[in-house]
Amino acid sequence: MSDSSLLPVRIGLLDSGVGGLSVLREIHTLLPGAELHYVGDSAWCPYGTKSSEVICQRVFEISDYLLSRGAEILVIACNSATIHAVGALRASYPLPVVGMEPAVKPAAELTRSGVIGVLATEASIAGEKFHQLVSTHARGVRVITRPCPRFVELVEAGQLTGPEVESAVDEAVAPLLEAGADVFVLGCTHYPFLRGVIESRLPAGTKVVDTGPAVARRVKSLLDSNGDDGRRSACPTATPSILIETTGPLETLNRLLPTLLPHLTVKAGHCVI
Ligand code: DGL
Repeated sequence: MSDSSLLPVRIGLLDSGVGGLSVLREIHTLLPGAELHYVGDSAWCPYGTKSSEVICQRVFEISDYLLSRGAEILVIACNSATIHAVGALRASYPLPVVGMEPAVKPAAELTRSGVIGVLATEASIAGEKFHQLVSTHARGVRVITRPCPRFVELVEAGQLTGPEVESAVDEAVAPLLEAGADVFVLGCTHYPFLRGVIESRLPAGTKVVDTGPAVARRVKSLLDSNGDDGRRSACPTATPSILIETTGPLETLNRLLPTLLPHLTVKAGHCVI
């Protein structure tokens, strides 16, 4: 093993705001030694109501920034950004780009009622890539979509529990339950932060699926296939470092981090992109 193999891998992540931290925590759990550099584009949050052009422009600007700071793998920790920009990113950058899409395929395999509910942003649901996903992986299954912009606002405000969250969840899931959905897809990276409340408001036996753990496994398999075999990322001598930057106010990020990532030691900063 050469000396360079003892260095931690630098993984760049981005999202419209703090939602992608739900993906960061999955990656950190699987690869505790990996160096993570996250940018939350809170100044432009939400992406879910923005046009494809605006989303693409922001995603490219932030990706350029992450690359200029040494990212070796890029993780688009945002379904909306993946759906609208991942093809162009992969064609433009010479490094692995890991994206994420709503977990329609596993949901279609799990359903017994033949109806699945996909909670995702307006931008994701409108994207061509999402329609392809449904037509390829959910044949014979009824897919009901529901944008939940309020969930994003609640998470950005650090409100993960309580009556306001419960009523937002009840309102979002009611029509889907009525239609017979027995599997719910958390198709936006903000939503896993509300998973506890979402599960508590669904009837027993209803399943909830999220893409975060699969993204972490994908990142690990990329490292393994590079011959790292997990050694670089899991090396006990490597100093794990997590840098979380926001394009919004640093005070807001500092206030949210203990709620969103309670057990992680991270460095927070502000960046202008
Ligand atoms: N977290 C993002 C996603 O996964 C976007 C939320 C938003 O900014 O609307 O789609």
